Amino acid sequence: MRLLFALSALILAAPAAAQAPARDIHSYSQPDKVVIRDLGLDLRVDFKEKQIRGRADLALEWRDPSARDLVLDTRDLTIEKVSGKQVDGPWYRLKYELGERDPVLGQKLTIHMQQAYDNVRIRYRTSPDASGLQWLEPAMTAGKASPFMFSQSQAIHARSWVPLQDTPSVRYTYSARIRTDGSLMALMSADNPPNEPRDGDYVFRMRQPIPSYLMAIAVGDLVFKPVSERSGVWAEPATIDAAASEFDDTEKMIQVAESLYGPYRWERYDILVLPPSFPFGGMENPRLTFATPTVIVGDKSLVSLIAHELAHSWSGNLVTNADWSGIWLNEGFTTYVENRIVEALYGPEAAAMERVIAEDGIQREIKTMPKPAQLLDVKPEAGSDPDAALSDVPYVKGAWFLRFLEQRFGRENFDAFLRQYFDHFAFQSIHTDQFVAYLKDTILKQHPDAVTAKELDAWLEQPGIPSVAPASQSPRFEAVDAVRKRWLAGRIAASDIDTQGWVTQEWLRFLEGLPSKLSNEKLVELDENFHFTASHNGEILMRWFPLAVRSDYFEARAAMAEFLQRVGRRKLIMPIYEALVATKDGRAFAQEVFNKARPGYHPITTASVEAVLAKKK
Ligand code: BES
Ligand code: ZN
Repeated sequence: MRLLFALSALILAAPAAAQAPARDIHSYSQPDKVVIRDLGLDLRVDFKEKQIRGRADLALEWRDPSARDLVLDTRDLTIEKVSGKQVDGPWYRLKYELGERDPVLGQKLTIHMQQAYDNVRIRYRTSPDASGLQWLEPAMTAGKASPFMFSQSQAIHARSWVPLQDTPSVRYTYSARIRTDGSLMALMSADNPPNEPRDGDYVFRMRQPIPSYLMAIAVGDLVFKPVSERSGVWAEPATIDAAASEFDDTEKMIQVAESLYGPYRWERYDILVLPPSFPFGGMENPRLTFATPTVIVGDKSLVSLIAHELAHSWSGNLVTNADWSGIWLNEGFTTYVENRIVEALYGPEAAAMERVIAEDGIQREIKTMPKPAQLLDVKPEAGSDPDAALSDVPYVKGAWFLRFLEQRFGRENFDAFLRQYFDHFAFQSIHTDQFVAYLKDTILKQHPDAVTAKELDAWLEQPGIPSVAPASQSPRFEAVDAVRKRWLAGRIAASDIDTQGWVTQEWLRFLEGLPSKLSNEKLVELDENFHFTASHNGEILMRWFPLAVRSDYFEARAAMAEFLQRVGRRKLIMPIYEALVATKDGRAFAQEVFNKARPGYHPITTASVEAVLAKKK
């Protein structure tokens, strides 16, 4: 989860404020005046033009009786026509204006009305460069025959394909009619009836209110395979069998989560496997998790990613951060729940290994981060890009805090507390201080001596990882450390290491403990015995290739170039680019590979790689 590469130094500490939560600085919208309650989309997905066009119908609820303007977020949208009406009245054409384009926020769309209309209809089209969409040529898919398109709306990219109030503080239901090529299947973060005829005309309904960042769409040559009554996998035909068998514990995961935190509230839980250019590991789009194919490694060793995205069905999709400074409320809680699912399904040792990797990672990374960025509730500076403020802090520090609370209150008490918390704030968007108030009001009131005010302050208000953080231990990692040490000292050969039964996490531990450079002789020995360069496991490659780069192990270059051109998942490729630009001839090689890879990268990935390539040494 090395998201730190994107961390910008743009994050400043804000004064400790106790006033009412400020409005979401990443949206132009004015939810105190009016909010969207329902969205109706009627859209065509046009692969030739790389464009989505059609109309969005917004059902409004006015909160300020004197308000007449509706302010929406857009980015690179062409607005063609805006009309408004009362529920039973006729449509009237409305005046509107698009503000100047801000590089982060996009363009403010202000719609003027004579009266507070119930419904507004916007005809629009997207740009081929929409930041929230990726259009893939057939060559970039598994089947190589059909094009593919998918959205990634989090954090503030929904506005690049739908004009809306693009803030997680507003929730609405939606329905959609999507038309596209008759040979392709369209899916959304909504109900996707598994047996819908594939005819290029699809209808969706999302009955639970969701924030805009959970709006999602994908179109491609997609087929479905069930893994249980309420759960299944969508993927290209070439990938479907491997995907369905990798993810066949999904139903068990849902049941574990339900037993801990209450019923799954979204009816179906399906997984869509995307092409390898998907810039993230996973995205918790409701009812339809989007997942990278890079976790399909054959032995289920990376399925904690599914546990993570599923966990968001409680932490994030049900109880949502009201703005992006509180992203730990989504990601920290989810990382905690993810680990609980892994523990219940694969055992305490598997869960501990994942935690140790995460804890070691954040301890290393935090050393390079400015203090304000180490705070749990990050205070983004006005004008900063929420994508750029993403780091391990909300994930790992957040989860670690909850684990600390679990230990202090006792697992049983804390489980009951979390379950109540999800119920209490279900379908609401909240700020960190609301969580803290709820904590103090409930479990902390019942167990006032379990946690001190100073400890709470250390977690919530101070940089770094508090000294009271309970460090995880893994006996299997200790064994890995012992053999690595003996091998490095030359006391044993690589062939003497008994790696039978090692799972991915043990290989990662082995690699992470190696010195930053190794002799060619040692690297050759590792490759001959363990075939790292030829590995198909991206978690291994993202650690092995940087070591190869730092050690001038040129044998790995061809495989590295192939990997960087095939995979667009930022977490896996950024460490390799980082290592390359830090060496003399690596930078030129990185540039050359990027030039070839770029047409296949998502806009988010392109931006990250460009930032690294532009860095001065
Ligand atoms: N919601 C996130 C992805 C995200 C976060 C997208 C912020 C845009 C902005 C998703 O749930 C996530 O955390 N994905 C991780 C995988 C997870 C196992 C840590 C990822 O993509 O690496
Ligand atoms: Zn997440």
